[in-house]
Amino acid sequence: MLEKFNEYAKRVVDKIDAYIYNVVRGEPETLYDAALHLIRAGGKRLRPIIVLAVAETLGADLEKALPFAAAVEIVHNFTLIHDDIIDEDEMRRGVPTVHKLWGQAIAITAGDLLYAKAFTALSKAVEVGVSVDRVVKAMEYLARACSTIAEGQAMDILFEDREDVSLDEYLVMVYKKTGALFEASAVLGGLVVTDDEPILKTLEAFGRNLGIAFQIKDDILGLVGKEEVIGKPVYSDIREGKKTVLVVYALQRLDQEKRERLLSILGKKSASREELEEAANLIISTGALDFAYRLAREYAEKARAALYRLPDKETRRVLEDLVDYVLVRDR
Ligand code: IPE
Ligand code: IPE
Ligand code: MG
Ligand code: MG
Repeated sequence: MLEKFNEYAKRVVDKIDAYIYNVVRGEPETLYDAALHLIRAGGKRLRPIIVLAVAETLGADLEKALPFAAAVEIVHNFTLIHDDIIDEDEMRRGVPTVHKLWGQAIAITAGDLLYAKAFTALSKAVEVGVSVDRVVKAMEYLARACSTIAEGQAMDILFEDREDVSLDEYLVMVYKKTGALFEASAVLGGLVVTDDEPILKTLEAFGRNLGIAFQIKDDILGLVGKEEVIGKPVYSDIREGKKTVLVVYALQRLDQEKRERLLSILGKKSASREELEEAANLIISTGALDFAYRLAREYAEKARAALYRLPDKETRRVLEDLVDYVLVRDR
């Protein structure tokens, strides 16, 4: 299982990284060290892998897709740096976060730098023969995705102060904060080769649904994952009062007393380990994990269905594996 995905990742990750390092260079050194810190620390590189595998499935050479692949991973890293400031998290990819090491001022600036560098990478697609017309479309698409991510992050923040977030509202929020960049990754992979609308719509459906499934699984890992495997803190969502799918479900099902108890711990920055565990157990007691797994699987299956409308190529298997990976991953 996941053989095709693992092989492919091994084959392309160094090329993605080399492209990123070539674009993200300059002075002062401190700024660039901060901007490259998380990229150097690792990460799964799922979004650029999607760009490359989609482009290859549609018949492009890998080299032609690298600028778009680098662009989405750079955007991703920009959002991670700012997200860790927003979420007050001190670990990511198994290392201290950028603001923890360099302070908020440099971390914010490093994020800004990466935001701009993503579009520098993207524009380089012209140099490797992608038509100007399609590069402009990719730019429009990625810029729109960035706006959508900001909207999603704002919803995520605003939901901290609400006790009545519905599942539908949650789904809009995760589409925006996470699904939009998966969607853009799939579409940009397509734009390397084509601007055929039905194909781009299919890619959009693939990326959007995969991204939503991915974030639901991320919520699950934030509750029951192993810190040393996921490389980031568990229970941070509880401490921040995040309305994850698990919390949304649990708040609708707990009796009044338990619900009040959970609400008293959610968002309590000074909560002890015991209190966080108590909140986690209250959530788990409602069957929220099972509900979330089923929901993630539903979205993953929608993503898989879209894939079957793409050419039956070897690299399509990589994307099929990726759908499974999103559900079974432990990091
Ligand atoms: C983390 O994304 C942020 C979310 C959208 C949940 P990833 O889990 O893809 O992070 P890395 O790139 O592998 O570290
Ligand atoms: C994911 O945010 C979305 C973005 C980073 C834009 P989360 O806050 O849910 O993800 P993690 O758990 O910190 O990676
Ligand atoms: Mg976070
Ligand atoms: Mg966040």
